[in-house]
Amino acid sequence: MNWHLCMAIAGALTFAANAQPTSVVGGPHNLSAGGPGRVRAVNESEVCIFCHAPHNAAPIRPLWNRSMPADAYSIYTSRALDAVPGQPTGTSKMCLSCHDGTIALGAIVSRDMPIAMAGGVSTIPTGPGHIGTDLRDDHPISFRFDSSLAGQDPHLRNPSSLPPQVRLDANQELQCTACHDAHDNSMGDFLVMQNSASQLCLSCHNVGSTTVTAHNSCNACHQPHTAPSGPYLLRGATIADTCVRCHNGTMPGAANIQDDLNKAWSHDTHSEMDPPDPQRDHASCVSCHDPHTMSPGPGSAPSVHPNFGRIDGVNSSGAPVTVASAEGEVCFKCHADGSTIAPLVPRRIAQNNTRLEFHPGAVSFHPVLATGRNPDVPSLKPGWTTSSIIYCSDCHASETGESAGGSGPSGTHGSNFRALLSARYETTDNISESASTYALCYRCHDRASLLDDRSFKEHKKHIQEERTPCAACHDSHGIASSQGNSTNNSHLINFATNIVQPDPVTGRLEFRDLGSARGECYLRCHGENHSPERY
Ligand code: HEC
Ligand code: HEC
Ligand code: HEC
Ligand code: HEC
Ligand code: HEC
Ligand code: HEC
Ligand code: HEC
Ligand code: HEC
Ligand code: HEC
Ligand code: HEC
Ligand code: HEC
Repeated sequence: MNWHLCMAIAGALTFAANAQPTSVVGGPHNLSAGGPGRVRAVNESEVCIFCHAPHNAAPIRPLWNRSMPADAYSIYTSRALDAVPGQPTGTSKMCLSCHDGTIALGAIVSRDMPIAMAGGVSTIPTGPGHIGTDLRDDHPISFRFDSSLAGQDPHLRNPSSLPPQVRLDANQELQCTACHDAHDNSMGDFLVMQNSASQLCLSCHNVGSTTVTAHNSCNACHQPHTAPSGPYLLRGATIADTCVRCHNGTMPGAANIQDDLNKAWSHDTHSEMDPPDPQRDHASCVSCHDPHTMSPGPGSAPSVHPNFGRIDGVNSSGAPVTVASAEGEVCFKCHADGSTIAPLVPRRIAQNNTRLEFHPGAVSFHPVLATGRNPDVPSLKPGWTTSSIIYCSDCHASETGESAGGSGPSGTHGSNFRALLSARYETTDNISESASTYALCYRCHDRASLLDDRSFKEHKKHIQEERTPCAACHDSHGIASSQGNSTNNSHLINFATNIVQPDPVTGRLEFRDLGSARGECYLRCHGENHSPERY
């Protein structure tokens, strides 16, 4: 044993008996009979004795007076973690000799009989002080936090620049004592520094910054101990739960997203907290919003919304990008290559890869990534032109949201209309046309113009008289360049095969573009053969 340390502690303990440092004495670590906390001894008057003893102590610095708990902990883990924490070591084990709840508080090495605690307390009572042996929901500890770890994770600061209050142990390991000092409760919770503005967290983490005021504190979403989520230490059991604690209509100013998640079609499919990549079947809030870098304010298509923050995506060539630049690139993570969602309308040309459907090189497409191919779209309402670019979320969003003319939150969260559409859009055959039947299209395309046959001279006949849905002829996304061509698939023409059949006379199922507002069709529909029909 180190003689100098021994003398120092012995001296301190002697000193303590007379005029003990108020920091230990005044807080919950004073377990003596005179202690202020709810946990204290029946008779014992010494304060330091529960943790240190000048004689007979266990041979561990600093004259430690307690048996160390067994290595039987479940350790924090997540797929994003670079550190590899093992069983607790060093000072963490000292804290856990009380806080894991396995060892009687009064059991000390320097005495044969445990110190009797008041109120029949033996081990640490359940409540916030009870950390337990399951550390999967606590901030990771007992691993080396050196510059090589910081080099692996761009969200970590270099430990060489830690503020003086925040200390690693001699092996540069991060222990409970990086954040806590068992002797000093002046900041509350024995913290080494204030954390009211997340200063403590920010002394090691550098996750980016947000201008959403309510998200400024890490505490809004995280808690360092007993976190319901386990991985990522979140305040809710899942990511959505964490966010809708506030975004559920109870907090003024926080948009109510909970209501949208309860709708018939929703994006909350996150069943696991920490799913493997790729996460195509696990949509949650952080699939579209980076929680650490979002900012309020309107976006302009095709750019990602400011409130998406620096979120990753897949670009129009199919390559992953760490920061998406267009909204569609965020959706392509899940709704492009490898998508498992079957198209809702069976079509002559089947495709469930939206990246190919909206690609600027596609045959025809709604203008999501680039302006569309048709310079003459007479039905466009004021506000929209053939140079406009639109968002996926102009069509796919809450039906009660702002973009749908409602007062609820906008965004691709949930809708009672199928395919998470922001307005009604019927695709079944033999349906009466009205302003509401195809309300989605009529938001941007003037109903009167279409029914006035200004482009396709048979629109009115088909839509109103024959009661044919738009979807019988039009694909609302686009036709991939490898699948169609500009003769057969301009103007988003891609017949629905549950309504339109091949023409029995010619055997063809085909549209042919014959130039400006002219074309012909080979098909059979509603019992009529087009072999062909021209307009
Ligand atoms: C609830 C437990 C607990 C109590 C009570 C406690 N200590 Fe400690 N003490 C620790 C722990 C844990 C460490 C080792 C971690 C550290 O260095 O902070 C420690 C370390 C020390 C050290 C060594 C510091 C160093 O830098 O190596 C001294 C000196 C010390 N304590 C003095 C005291 C005195 C004097 C008292 C009584 C007034 C006291 N302690 C009460 C838990 C306690
Ligand atoms: C001798 C047993 C013992 C040791 C060792 C010990 N603590 Fe405690 N600690 C307690 C008790 C008992 C309480 C009061 C719990 C209560 O009131 O429920 C407490 C309270 C706390 C609190 C405040 C919780 C609250 O409810 O206000 C924190 C934080 C804390 N300890 C951290 C630590 C850390 C960190 C270490 C190691 C550096 C440590 N403790 C070592 C027994 C111990
Ligand atoms: C990365 C920093 C950090 C580490 C490491 C850490 N804590 Fe904490 N701990 C905190 C903060 C911050 C709080 C204050 C409570 C809050 O903000 O929710 C806290 C609170 C506590 C509390 C009070 C009860 C509670 O849950 O609020 C106890 C007890 C505690 N810590 C014990 C420990 C023990 C034991 C260890 C090591 C096994 C440890 N802490 C490691 C940051 C940390
Ligand atoms: C003393 C430095 C330090 C402090 C203070 C600190 N952390 Fe950490 N934290 C780390 C290190 C190092 C890791 C491990 C990162 C890794 O390996 O990817 C980590 C891991 C985490 C993780 C898990 C990351 C993952 O990939 O699973 C979360 C969440 C976290 N910290 C949140 C917080 C919060 C919230 C605070 C403030 C209460 C805080 N940290 C304070 C150093 C610190
Ligand atoms: C608005 C909620 C929110 C706030 C505020 C927030 N986080 Fe997070 N954080 C999350 C969510 C959700 C995850 C899980 C992300 C995932 O699965 O990709 C996460 C993940 C993390 C991770 C692990 C992944 C990574 O990026 O390294 C760390 C570390 C982290 N947060 C630290 C912090 C710190 C430090 C603060 C405060 C400066 C903070 N967070 C503020 C919601 C939040
Ligand atoms: C502690 C409460 C709280 C939590 C938890 C929370 N938020 Fe928020 N959030 C708010 C409030 C309040 C606002 C609006 C006021 C503001 O800008 O501060 C807001 C604003 C937002 C905005 C809109 C910014 C804009 O104006 O366009 C988004 C997006 C958002 N939050 C997403 C999330 C996500 C995702 C999570 C979970 C990872 C989350 N929030 C967790 C309270 C919270
Ligand atoms: C992390 C993966 C992921 C991301 C990113 C994502 N989605 Fe989804 N999306 C899903 C999952 C999973 C479903 C639910 C499928 C189910 O319920 O069968 C879904 C459902 C949908 C649906 C309903 C279609 C149906 O048939 O169920 C639409 C429309 C949709 N997403 C559009 C979008 C848009 C627009 C974006 C970009 C703003 C986007 N998604 C981003 C995973 C994702
Ligand atoms: C002009 C409106 C519009 C735009 C813009 C739009 N969609 Fe759709 N989407 C629809 C309609 C309508 C359906 C329903 C099926 C149909 O009628 O073809 C649909 C269906 C879907 C489906 C369900 C599977 C399927 O193909 O039927 C997914 C997934 C989807 N869209 C994702 C996206 C993504 C991702 C974007 C942006 C890259 C996007 N949509 C842009 C209108 C649109
Ligand atoms: C958010 C606005 C918006 C909505 C909603 C919308 N469109 Fe469009 N649409 C446009 C714009 C802008 C263009 C012009 C593109 C161009 O110049 O090629 C366009 C063009 C078209 C074209 C002509 C494409 C070509 O290449 O000739 C068709 C057909 C079309 N839309 C059908 C529909 C149908 C069917 C719906 C309903 C499912 C719909 N649109 C909903 C904005 C919208
Ligand atoms: C598929 C992508 C996607 C997912 C998943 C997603 N959002 Fe959004 N969110 C959006 C889009 C798109 C917007 C609208 C952006 C805009 O117009 O500024 C939005 C807007 C918001 C807004 C601002 C609404 C307003 O009108 O002020 C909040 C708050 C929000 N989202 C929270 C959440 C929460 C919480 C979750 C998880 C439950 C979530 N989002 C999941 C795409 C998504
Ligand atoms: C029977 C097939 C058919 C049906 C049903 C149909 N269309 Fe068309 N539509 C066409 C054809 C063919 C063109 C191309 C006309 C041309 O040659 O320019 C067209 C062109 C368009 C255009 C681009 C020109 C313009 O007028 O702005 C829009 C927009 C459009 N249709 C929307 C719709 C909507 C909305 C519906 C449902 C309410 C619908 N169509 C139903 C066949 C159809």
